Amino acid sequence: MTAKVIDGKAFAAKVRAEVAAHVARLQEENGLTPGLAVVLVGEDPASQVYVRNKHASTIEVGMASFEHRLPAETSEATLLSLIDQLNADPKVHGILVQLPLPGHLNSELVINRIDPAKDVDGFHISNVGLLGTGQKSMVPCTPLGCLMMLRDHHGKLAGLNAVVVGRSNIVGKPMAQLLLGDSCTVTIAHSRTKDLAEVCRRADILVAAVGRPEMITGDMVRPGATVIDVGINRIERDGKAKLVGDVHYESAAAVAGAITPVPGGVGPMTIACLLANTLTACCRANGLAEPKGLTA
Ligand code: GUN
Repeated sequence: MTAKVIDGKAFAAKVRAEVAAHVARLQEENGLTPGLAVVLVGEDPASQVYVRNKHASTIEVGMASFEHRLPAETSEATLLSLIDQLNADPKVHGILVQLPLPGHLNSELVINRIDPAKDVDGFHISNVGLLGTGQKSMVPCTPLGCLMMLRDHHGKLAGLNAVVVGRSNIVGKPMAQLLLGDSCTVTIAHSRTKDLAEVCRRADILVAAVGRPEMITGDMVRPGATVIDVGINRIERDGKAKLVGDVHYESAAAVAGAITPVPGGVGPMTIACLLANTLTACCRANGLAEPKGLTA
């Protein structure tokens, strides 16, 4: 079998277009412009690229983008005071503090200072608890993007065996919660799992989010399974820099029913879902109907 390639780049473009259409309606009918504030502390090069992309995408869908770039030596008190100011600003519907923060700042304290209703990353402890108990919350962007692609490919997910490899707070755990919410039978596997290959082979849906280049190989994939590769790993091969996922693409694609490539799979969905979350937050803040198909 050669797997169907799930085109995340095209899907993300469709999500952004839906968000843009909804934003235009909000402006016309309600005089509202959803606003996203992004806070970057320090000069980490990868973070600067992410923040630039977020800014451009936010503008492109017609939202307001508020960028706050602070020096690496910014004190915790200064950062918390900026968050308080953004929490109180009615033009700001979503707040994202780019991670990782410089070592002297307590990320948990900072993230938990964000108003949960504006926490478009879904990292605030209240949102984590709401998701874990099946209540309406802000959902982390990468797992939300994976869920959207899975629903699009499968229709209903109920009863399917899902294996999530990786137990991070940002991807693995919320991904498992979302799949459980759609009535999958969910297993979370990780680096200490015994006979990982056998566990993975039970999966109708296999989500790889371990951060280890090409760790999931074709022999670990059940024939016909859907493979979602969350990994983005920079490696050097034959003297050239290359981007690979957590899945060994060639061997897995030969067995799977469907697979996301790297790049062009899950990656583009993350920013699309950040915009979707900002739109959702704006609608909720104003007591308006939420966009259909753009939330969990
Ligand atoms: N750094 C890398 N990915 C993310 C993300 O999804 N959210 C935030 N806030 N920081 C990140």
